This record gives sequence, C-alpha cells and structure tokens, in this order.
Amino acid sequence: MKASPSPAIMLSAQQQPRSGAAIRLAFLDFYTARGHRLLPSASLVPDDPTVLLTIAGMLPFKTVFLGQKPRPAQRATSAQKCIRTNDIENVGRTARHHTFFEMLGNFSFGDYFKEQAICWAWELSTEVFGLDPRHLVVSVFHEDREATSIWTETVGVAPHRIVPMGAADNFWSAGPTGPCGPCSELYYDLQPEKGDEAINLEDDERFIEFYNLVFMESNRNADGVLTPLANKNIDTGMGLERMARILQGKPNNYETDLIYPLMAAVARRSPLEDYLAASTDQQTSLKIIADHSRAVTHLIADGVTSSNLGRGYVLRRLIRRAVRHGYLIGIREPFLESLVDVVVKVTGSAYPQLQQRETAIKRELKQEELRFRDTLERGEKRLGEILTTQPERISGSQAFELYDTHGFPLELTVEIAQEHGLGVDQEGFAAAMEIQRQQARAAAVNVDLTRGGVAEGLAAKLGATPFSGYQQLNDESEVVALIVNGEAAQQALQGDAVQVGLSRTCFYGESGGQVGDRGVVLGATTAGQPMEMIVEDVQKVDGFVLHKGRLVSGVLHLGQVVVTRVDHFCRRRAQIHHTATHLLHEALKRVVDPAICQAGSLVDFNRLRFDFNCPRSVAASEMEQMESLINGWILEAYSLEVSQMPMAEAKARGAVAMFGEKYGDVVRVVNVPGVSMELCGGIHVNNTAEIGVVRLVAESGVAAGIRRIEAVAGPAALAYIKPRDQACRELGERFKAQPTEIVARVEALQAELKHTSKALAASREALALAKAKALVDQAQSNGAFQLLVQRLDGVEPAALQTAGQALVDQLGPGAVVVLAGESSPGKVSLVAGFGPQVVARGLKAGAVIGALAKGCGGGGGGRPHLAQAGGRQPENIDAVLEAGQAQLVRALSQSPPPEPQRRRRKSTRKTSSAG
Ligand code: SER
Repeated sequence: MKASPSPAIMLSAQQQPRSGAAIRLAFLDFYTARGHRLLPSASLVPDDPTVLLTIAGMLPFKTVFLGQKPRPAQRATSAQKCIRTNDIENVGRTARHHTFFEMLGNFSFGDYFKEQAICWAWELSTEVFGLDPRHLVVSVFHEDREATSIWTETVGVAPHRIVPMGAADNFWSAGPTGPCGPCSELYYDLQPEKGDEAINLEDDERFIEFYNLVFMESNRNADGVLTPLANKNIDTGMGLERMARILQGKPNNYETDLIYPLMAAVARRSPLEDYLAASTDQQTSLKIIADHSRAVTHLIADGVTSSNLGRGYVLRRLIRRAVRHGYLIGIREPFLESLVDVVVKVTGSAYPQLQQRETAIKRELKQEELRFRDTLERGEKRLGEILTTQPERISGSQAFELYDTHGFPLELTVEIAQEHGLGVDQEGFAAAMEIQRQQARAAAVNVDLTRGGVAEGLAAKLGATPFSGYQQLNDESEVVALIVNGEAAQQALQGDAVQVGLSRTCFYGESGGQVGDRGVVLGATTAGQPMEMIVEDVQKVDGFVLHKGRLVSGVLHLGQVVVTRVDHFCRRRAQIHHTATHLLHEALKRVVDPAICQAGSLVDFNRLRFDFNCPRSVAASEMEQMESLINGWILEAYSLEVSQMPMAEAKARGAVAMFGEKYGDVVRVVNVPGVSMELCGGIHVNNTAEIGVVRLVAESGVAAGIRRIEAVAGPAALAYIKPRDQACRELGERFKAQPTEIVARVEALQAELKHTSKALAASREALALAKAKALVDQAQSNGAFQLLVQRLDGVEPAALQTAGQALVDQLGPGAVVVLAGESSPGKVSLVAGFGPQVVARGLKAGAVIGALAKGCGGGGGGRPHLAQAGGRQPENIDAVLEAGQAQLVRALSQSPPPEPQRRRRKSTRKTSSAG
C-alpha cells in the first residue's frame, strides 16, 4: 500500500491527460495496471427492477455486493454510462448537472478496502491527473475516524483540509434499501486564493466534487436497519465530465470537449450560429439540448423507445424538452437526428453500440421529434392564448385541455408557466384526468356482451380500432374491452389468457393475408408487479382489434392506460413477406399468364403462400425465371410509395385489386414504381432492397384450377438456404467436388451402387441356392410327400424365397418345404413352398407360414404354393420349426394319399363334363 511519495510533484501540461477520451483511458489504465479487470459499461437499462435507469457505476454490481451473484473478479474498473433525472430542472442551469454522464469507477469485491482505495485515489488524482495537492480537499463521514486517520497519517493531508460531513452527504446508497456505506469525497478547489480558513464544500462556485469513495460494508433493509455485508467492498465514482472540466480549465462541464461540440452543432443549426454569442438563456437552451441529446442517443442505443411509461417516458420527456429548447432558440426544422453523429463522434469510441444502432437511433428520434413538433406548435399557441388573459395561474381544466386536446404534456405546461412566473393547478389536472378515465371505463363496461359472440358484440359497440401501426411500433392507449378466459371481465390477473381491446393500437390485426403482430402491452405497477401482457396473436373483428395473449405479470383492468409495443423483428419479417408477395404476384403475371389473379394468400413471419388461378402447373423453368425477376427487383432497390386515393383513380392507374376483397371509396395503394401496384391495407418494406432475397420453394395444386406457390424471403430465406448450403458444402468436401459437380457425382455413384447391388443380390442368391442344394438330402419322405423343414440363417428374404422355390422344384410335386432363419440381426425370415400335390390336398403355404411367423413375433402370407413372412424373435426360430414340422407331418398323414397328377386332371375333367 502506498500513498503518493511526493505530492508536490506536478505534471507538465503535456503529461496531463486533458481530453475526455484521454481521462477515461488514464483512469482505466491506472486501475487495470493495479490488477483490476476492465469491464464494459452495462446498459442504461438495468437488470434491477427497483430502478428505472442505471444511475451509478456500481449499479450493475449491486447483487454482487449483496452476495447474491458471484463476483466478476476480485477487483474491477469500468466507465459506466449513467442517467439521473432527479435534478433535471438544474440541467443546463448549473455548471455541473446532467442527465447523462459517465462515471469512472474502481471496485473491490471483498478484496482491498479503505486504506488502499484512498491511497490509489490520491495517487491517481495527483500523479496521473496532476492535480495540485494544495488544491484538493476531502470530505469524510463524521463517524469514520479510520478514514480521517488514513487521510492524515498515510496520505499526509492537512487536518484542516479534511471536512467531516453528516449521513445526508457522506453515507452513500443506491436507493432507500440495499448495499451502502460511509464515503469520502475528493473536491477540487477552483478558487484557492480564498484561503484555507473559508473552506465550505457547499460553495459550488469554489469547490467541485470529482471522486467519491464508498466503503460499502452494510445492507439497509426497508425499515432502515443496517446489517453488515459478508464482505467489505469498495465502490468509487469519478465524474468524467467534472474531471474534464477541471483539467481543461473550463467554467462548466458543458464547455469541455465531451459536450461543447454538441452545443456548437446546435448553435450552427439555429439563428444563433455561435454558442459564445448567445444570451445566458439561449446558452442554457443549448446546454439542455446538448445534455439531452447525449442521454436520448444512449437510451435508444440501449433499446429504449418513446412511450408514456417508465423509461420510455424518460426518453420521450428528454426528447420533448430538447425539441422545445430548440424551438426557443429559433430552430424550426427537425434537428435532433443530426446530433447523433456528433454524440457518436464524441463518445462513440467508448460505446461501440452507438455506431451499431445509429440508424435505429436516428429513426426513433426523427419520428418522435416530428410527432412532438406538431403538438408543440398547437399547444404553445393555445397556451399563449391562455397567457394573454393574464391568469393568476393555469387552471386544472386548462392544463387538461392542453393535454387532452392538444397532446401537450403537463410538465411542459408547468415549465412554460414557470417561465412566466405562474403556477399550474396540478391537482385540478389530476381530477380532470380521473373524470375522463371513469367516462372511458363506463363506455367500455356498457358494452352489451350477451348478444352474439363476445368479440362481435364488442366490435358492434366500440367500432373499428384506430390503427397507428403504419407510422409507429409503440403507442399508448387505454383498455376499452377485456375478455378473460372467454368471458367479458373487469380485470385480469397474472397467468390469465386475455383478449384486450384498446382505444387505439399500433398492432396490426390479421387481415389481407398478413398475420397479426406480436409484442407486449405494458402498464403500471400494482403491488410491486408491473403489468405485462405478451401479445401472441392479433385478430380483427369488423375492424375492432383484439389483442390475444397472456398476462405474465401484474394486473390488467378496464380503463387502464397502457403502452403497446410491437415486436419489430416479427413485424419486419411480415413486411418483407408482404412486399415479396406483391412481387411474386407480378412475376406470375409476367412469366406465366397475365390473366393470373390472386385466390388467397398468407403472409407470415417465416414464409408466404400465394394461391392463384391457373389451369396448369407452373414449370420449374418458370419458377426459376420468376425467382430471378423478383430478386432483380429487390436488387433494383425500388422505394415503395403508399398512398390513399379514390377507388376510381386507383383503378385508372392500373392498381390490382385482390380477389374477393371489398374496398371503400378511398383505397390504399401500394406501389412499387414501374413494377407492381396493388390495393392493399398491409404493411410493407420502405424499399424492395430490405427484402434481401426471395426463394420460391414449392409449387403445388390446391384445388381444380388453383395453384399454390410457397416462398421465403429475407431472414427466413437465409434460414432456408443455410442448412442446404451447409449440406452442399459437406457433400462437396466428401466427394471432393465443386457444388456444380455433385449431381453428376451422385448419379455416377447411384449407377455404381445399382450395379453392385445387382451383383450382390445375384451372389446372395447363388449362395442361397448352394446352401439349399446341400439341404435336399435332409428331406424326409412321408408317403408321396417330401418334407423339408430347415433353418437357414444369414439369407436375405428374396434369396430365401428363391432357395425355397428351387427346393420345391427339386423335390417334385409332393414337396413340402419350410425354411426359416435370422436373415439379419434380430430379423426372422420365413418361406414355405408346397408342390402341386400338397396344394391339391388342401394345404396352403400362406396359412402355414402365417402361423409360423406368429410364433416369431411377426406375420405374413402369400399364395398357396409359395408364401413368405417375417418376424422379430429369432430366439423362437428353432421351436417354431420343430412345432411346424410336427404339425405338417400330422397334416400330411391325415390327408388322403396323393393322386398322380394325371388322374387328378382326368377326374377334374370328368367332374366338369358331368356338370
Ligand atoms: N456509487 C457512488 C456514487 O454514485 C460511487 O460510485 O457516487
């Protein structure tokens, strides 16, 4: 353990890390060099249901500190992206508040503790970051004598520069419960000239806290009781932006290289042009936009999408605040999307998923910004009108009208009112909201479900569900109908099979061949359980959309406000197959017959099926030609145009209408320019290139004059191709052949195999015949009969039959031949062959062999003179043959003696002439 040997040493400017990236690296290098495992930043979406977002570097390790999860290492270090929104009002208004920030941390999981943590923190601050020790002050928890003495005795900090603080400041925990402990913080003195006598760490202007060392040794329960953790741990956090501010000598965190480029970019897009030329208020707006753009970019990168609940709402609120401040500084065009590149440039090297998700981030930002701009303009206009009446405050009903009619969020009303020195009656707002909920609930409950099917009743009462899913995959709405286990219900509980009707939905209900979307419906938490419904199918009943699925958590009730979230992977797969279906339809017209029209279709996530009228099958060459044509259209990357137009106009333009569907006056036209134009309510890709590839996999007939083509597209096509490609590769390796040579190689092998099999069968027969010949001597004479019952193993059924026939031929008309043996391991083969005299006596080979085979666990039969059977109990062969022989002997002795054939024929003739 070691403190800084000579704290007075100062680094030259060149040695000191200055840029945000260099500071991050220096911190992580310092601790990795000291045996810490470098861990990547965890997601902003924590694996911890008690918090909405990752608020500190320690959050991913909460369960490790509690001993619930194994430690990832004894020591670790990380740069963790964090978001805190509790001080959102201060963001941009103070020098150091942010929503998004990066926390550099070193952690000990039951390894080193207080003294080492303090010494390394000092060494890093003074020797690596080159901070003048005379400008450093530390705080300690007032009961923590040990920390005080380490600072004074081991590190050598003067006692007057160590400030004891109470639990509110220096006892740290991530929340009301969980791991916690006393902490000690390092502060940098920005105004040392004020002298040591006036040290007041509350003085923000003078002191900046940059490094917090938490001595994590207790667990706090819900009653506030502390119990010692199994291990003594270290959790530290250094604010990267703060250290950058100190080392870059900036008046606030915003002007460091981590954030300034964002403010400059926003200023350039606004009439202000330059950050430095802006007024204080305008600079605040620039700071807020810069801060929020970092937060929203990282949030979306981590999979958060805008909604009215939880994290989704944090995102929405940050986007809206940023847009509004853009509006305040005169930006009239959407601009947030353009900031993503700057965020990626500034922090992307440390957070690679930013680059990977860049397109999705921009799309989400653009959508949400466009949606909000309209609202903003309408709402601000209305609010402006209200403000011109010079009210004392904004009433609850006014705030509710802004929210309900104009979609203007309450907190924005509050914020704008505040800017005018006014309050808002928030209780009045809540009351108005509740009244509206109750009305919606009453409307839903009044649905008469007794007549007709439950769903039909709902459809008739509630009408078509407004669909927002063409533009967006997330939405919010209200539960207007609920069916639990087939019955109308007020509420559903965890585990229930539910069908839910909503006031509006972004879920596509199955129609036009396209299957319903999959996804989740989310709602508020009840008794600690957030509501979550998995949507497994979505059906449309007369335009009313029913979301079917399971409630996996929480409580779902009528009137509940919910967030709907479509599974975009499934949706995308359906879109791909839907556009592919239109291309296939067109290809059929061009290649097979222009008169072809659709007779049915299925657009699924993993395949498409297209039925059409055609009197003949589609040739393989036509299938190939169509596949090339379709993939050519995909490669051409046509952008689709979707528009609404009167039916007459659509028809005049040549749009293809689907078989058997009805259209209203105004229709939706899906146009792949120059390729295909169809009336269609389904959801399509934006550009044919998104389909990737189409494979036509089958053609068949489904009814008279109706053919069916099945195809796969996009990821499903790749999944189809992959195992085939793999098999082809393996075959190529085995045959040492190129894929194109495999067929010829297999044909040659098949011919060779056929030849060899024939030769093998011939030699088996020859062998069987030889074996049979050797048996002739074993035949027993029984009057005129020649009885031969023998075991013959290792002879294939066909060869055994040949052998049986040969023996009958040799033994003559009185031959009674029964052969049985184990033809291959575990398999019994039996043959009976009777000469004509035996058959004439009424003995039938078929009946005899059937009975014998039964004894060997099998069955079989055949003609009276030659029959064959099989069985599965070779262990019974000997006994069966023995019993068979005895029975045959008996049967032959009971039969009348055989007549010579000639006489028999004569008598037959006699009989017939007598008749
Ligand atoms: N968990 C502490 C903090 O967030 C130290 O990292 O301040």
